Amino acid sequence: MTTDLDTAELCAPFVIQGRLFTLRNDSRVGTYDYFDSGALVVSDQGRILYVGPSVPAEYSHYRVKKTQHLIFPGFVDAHVHYPQLPVIASYGASLLEWLDKYTFPEEAKYSQRPYAERRARQFLELMLQRGVTSAAVFSTIHQEAFDALLGAASCSGFNLVSGVTAMNRGAPDDVLVDVGLFREINAKAIESGLCVERFRYAMTPRFALSCTEEMLQYCGQLLESNPRLLMQTHINETEDEVLATSNLFPHATDYLDVYDAFGLLTGRSLFAHGIYTTESEYERWAKSGASVIHCPTSNTFLGSGLFDASGYISRDINIGMGSDVGGGVSLNPFVTMSEAYKVAKLGGQVLDPLQLIYWHTLGGAKAINQGDFIGSLEPGKWADFCLIDITSDDLGFEVWERSCSVEEKLFGLMFLLPDSTNKVVETYASGISRWQDASCLESA
Ligand code: GUN
Ligand code: ZN
Repeated sequence: MTTDLDTAELCAPFVIQGRLFTLRNDSRVGTYDYFDSGALVVSDQGRILYVGPSVPAEYSHYRVKKTQHLIFPGFVDAHVHYPQLPVIASYGASLLEWLDKYTFPEEAKYSQRPYAERRARQFLELMLQRGVTSAAVFSTIHQEAFDALLGAASCSGFNLVSGVTAMNRGAPDDVLVDVGLFREINAKAIESGLCVERFRYAMTPRFALSCTEEMLQYCGQLLESNPRLLMQTHINETEDEVLATSNLFPHATDYLDVYDAFGLLTGRSLFAHGIYTTESEYERWAKSGASVIHCPTSNTFLGSGLFDASGYISRDINIGMGSDVGGGVSLNPFVTMSEAYKVAKLGGQVLDPLQLIYWHTLGGAKAINQGDFIGSLEPGKWADFCLIDITSDDLGFEVWERSCSVEEKLFGLMFLLPDSTNKVVETYASGISRWQDASCLESA
């Protein structure tokens, strides 16, 4: 539910005071600030003016909101499909079968603008409810689907990366678009996003199997000619897909080579999954500055495989996190992070909770080339944050109180904030409250 304040109040600068945690935008993953009673000062432009233990005198005349909840940076979901919400938790299929049986029929419906609008609004509301304030989102081939998402995001202050999906083979006709028409729709979509403040366009070839060489070439040319564009796609998600890709592109040395050959491997590129990455792919990947987006609930749900984080960490490849809904089964960042912890543990690695939080905040921000603007609570950045009720679960609060270090407290939260009961009680995007749990209203 969105709060219903008048515009003047929405835009007034303010201070919010309470327990506050944020990582710092530092090259070291574990640098953070934690205050038992901290202050975050927000400007009338929705930017952070100050974060620290107390309110500086220059802001002492600002309206103050005190909260008993934990003030936490807004999360970045760096890989998610908004048209797949209705096929979340579809039974029993592996990736390629799941696409054919559940996903493509649903995506075909997004040629209908009213349907797309309803789903886009629902999607963004669910994201904000879970404290997600930025995301790199897959749409469909349809202009209607893209327009609906962009419109809904600009109304809700959400920080959006998206693009029209490029897809001209390997699926039913109603989810394919030929290169000529794609060029037209894509150009219009880029144009319509130009004036939207919190939006970046991403060229979005679905994956190699769904694009001809001509389509990939067009995507690469555009990416090269426009330095503001990003690129998002899938890679090395399942063994069947890797094999099918090498059959379809027999001249490529590996999967990453397919994308590289068309200019799609850049520092502005986001590759989701990256489970079956080879030594030579890692090397090339590291040189390019591209990011990998780890989607653990999708990888375990579809049985795709176990992501090896150490392969990327050891080469300094930036990692973001994605829910990958509807392959993934939850939009809740705490569920995604706890699943990543378990996946790493199965591979013999113990991940620091700060590392997991980094991936879901700053790692994602860097993946979309916005590390200086979002992903942590620091002066100059957008005031994107959520309030987490750490007392709402008795056992969870006991773990919070009993834990000696901030790392242990946050680790407990990851496992004890179940998806079923929402523990994010309010979410601010660009300094404005965009979603609030009515049952937890606090007085100012
Ligand atoms: N590979 C190509 N399309 C998709 C998709 O929609 N979801 C996932 N998980 N992988 C893909
Ligand atoms: Zn995906």
